[in-house]
Amino acid sequence: MRRLAPLLLAALALPGTARAQRPIVLRFSHVVALDTPKGQAAELFRRRAGELTGGKVRVEVHPGGQLYKDNEEIEALQLGAVQMLAPSLSKFGVLGMREFEAFDLPFLFDDYGELRRVVDGPVGRALLQKLEPRGILGLAYWDNGFKSFSANVPLRRPEDFRGLRMRIQASGVLDAQMRALGAVPQVLPFPDVYGALAAGVVDGTENPISNLYTQRMHEVQKHLTLTRHGYLGYAVIANKRFWEALPAEVRRALHQALAEATQHANRIARQANDEALLAVRRAGTTQVHEPTREERARLLRALLPVHRAAEERVGKDLVRAIYAATGFDPEQRAPAP
Ligand code: LMR
Repeated sequence: MRRLAPLLLAALALPGTARAQRPIVLRFSHVVALDTPKGQAAELFRRRAGELTGGKVRVEVHPGGQLYKDNEEIEALQLGAVQMLAPSLSKFGVLGMREFEAFDLPFLFDDYGELRRVVDGPVGRALLQKLEPRGILGLAYWDNGFKSFSANVPLRRPEDFRGLRMRIQASGVLDAQMRALGAVPQVLPFPDVYGALAAGVVDGTENPISNLYTQRMHEVQKHLTLTRHGYLGYAVIANKRFWEALPAEVRRALHQALAEATQHANRIARQANDEALLAVRRAGTTQVHEPTREERARLLRALLPVHRAAEERVGKDLVRAIYAATGFDPEQRAPAP
């Protein structure tokens, strides 16, 4: 809260009260590097918002958690100290909303196609609408990709995780996932993860490879197992009061800029992760393991109970609606040994 105070004063100047000739400043804060899918998409949004509004809006992108870290940023948005964010879907629990944690269920999505059927359909739209009573407008979903586990020991079997301190995002489902493997989950803000791994405060973590590589975590993680066991994506959100006070033509232009940025984010996400994996292999500091079918099946069997346990937390109807949209069937996904 102390860090929010100076920007709060600036935030009181809402667009409706701004002097006509001055550009409306829109602060877009995020916690990742510029050369990630989210970093690139935010940059495209910044450029197109300026072009499409004829300079009426100046988007300032603050990457890398420079302004706010994980939980702080949502509070800053609600207070109007920043106007847009794209937090990962795992981080909405701070609003007292557990529903977005459904996206953290292990092995829920086989690929981006299944995921799109959920976020672009009624489930995705209903979730974004639930943000409005909290003063937040949900505008779009952006992909990052599928997470893999890393540590300083090879992680091939569930028993390899036993007792490891694994960094997670602040999500009850991710907490349950790590506990199901016998690991000890530790919530840490994203910008602090590299330091915590380097200092041995935590032993391992899970990331899409673009996040792992751009934070240089591969330099402090000797092993990476390409489990692709969970999805990490973002909801692009705005301060509702700010957005609704914008002149209608400005709002239309920003929606257009955002549609272009969303297309871009979702187009480059897979490629960014593929390139990051090549870069990790080239760096030679991390041994990369591709799990065998049997290893993957064992991990799956260890993690599927997390689905049943999470139903109470995130809502049984929601979990069932996601299964229906993707065709998910726990029996098929983890056949008995
Ligand atoms: C994380 O904390 O691991 C991610 O949410 C970071 C991000 O924004 O991709």
